[in-house]
Amino acid sequence: MSVFRDDILAGKVAFVTGGGSGICKGITRAFLAHGAECAIVGRKADRLAEAAAELEKETARACLAVPADVRDPKLVEAALDATLDRFGKIDIVVNGAAGNFLCPAAALSYNGFRTVMEIDTLGTWHVTRAAFERGLRDRGGVVINISATLHYAATPLQMHASAAKAAIDAMTRNLALEWGSMNIRVNAIAPGPIDDTEGMTRLAPKDMKDKLEKAVPLGRFGTVEDVANAALFLASDAASYVHGEVFVVDGGAWLPGMAGAFSMG
Ligand code: HXC
Ligand code: NAP
Repeated sequence: MSVFRDDILAGKVAFVTGGGSGICKGITRAFLAHGAECAIVGRKADRLAEAAAELEKETARACLAVPADVRDPKLVEAALDATLDRFGKIDIVVNGAAGNFLCPAAALSYNGFRTVMEIDTLGTWHVTRAAFERGLRDRGGVVINISATLHYAATPLQMHASAAKAAIDAMTRNLALEWGSMNIRVNAIAPGPIDDTEGMTRLAPKDMKDKLEKAVPLGRFGTVEDVANAALFLASDAASYVHGEVFVVDGGAWLPGMAGAFSMG
């Protein structure tokens, strides 16, 4: 049961990278359930098609699977063109495609660093730039970049992902500055630890879950729906004056910092 009116995105078309799984599948589900039509992007064509079929069945709204690797601008352009052929326009872009793994900087290869930067940072730019040329510039719209909080302090074994997401935050603010006059609202969401996702499976061993949850001020990991609700808000007219913001959805997880070393009672 949603806390939002079910037609807040009626008539909108969203292009969601990473929409075939995890957090961005949840965002796509929420957009569809609130009136939008969606295209989802990922490299694994079979998983993407399955996700689109599942979401269409569940929400009775159109969801198009457009396989592409966001590292290749030509493939990104083709995916956007396929979306325009099907739906006629794109109002909302969600840049959620990302790659990550735990690795100490001392062991990280040139290509390991490049790969994460290419998927997260360059991928976000490729999609945003190509969507700008395919309608955002002339009609306006909403861009939501999926960031993280890794780089607010420093996170061990995460130099590559931290650098990639810090660049995405910078891009978010700069584009907000330059594109606001074209009625393109640009924001980001920085999720904290989100339960039952590939990201958390890769970064946090299951046997540490209890301990990690206790370190979150709200006492639990987030849900995919927590992030989807933030995306719905940012995509909707309720956020019509929210621009250049990185919206942290983490239950306060990044706040404690050194506090962990002191007694908090
Ligand atoms: C060290 C690694 C590595 C690892 C890959 N590499 N995995 N290095 N430790 N565990 C290195 C490889 O050795 C290689 O460098 C380079 O990275 C590219 O690897 P490929 O396997 O060829 O890359 P590719 O097939 O393009 O796959 C990209 C990927 C993969 C990122 C490596 O894991 C992927 O497709 N991930 C997508 C799904 C995902 O990661 N979801 C989680 C997002 S969560 P060399 O030098 O050997 O050639 C997230 C959370 C953020 O972003 C914050 C959470 C709190
Ligand atoms: P996920 O399910 O693995 O999502 C990543 C998606 O990106 C997948 O659908 C993947 O599909 C797609 N993708 C990866 N590389 C791609 C490429 N080169 N081209 C096109 N698509 C690509 O992981 P998640 O945990 O839900 O993460 C989703 C987003 O939230 C990411 O931006 C992540 O950084 C962010 N985040 C997650 C957490 C968390 O707790 N999970 C915390 C902070 C931030 P294919 O494999 O089919 O390409």
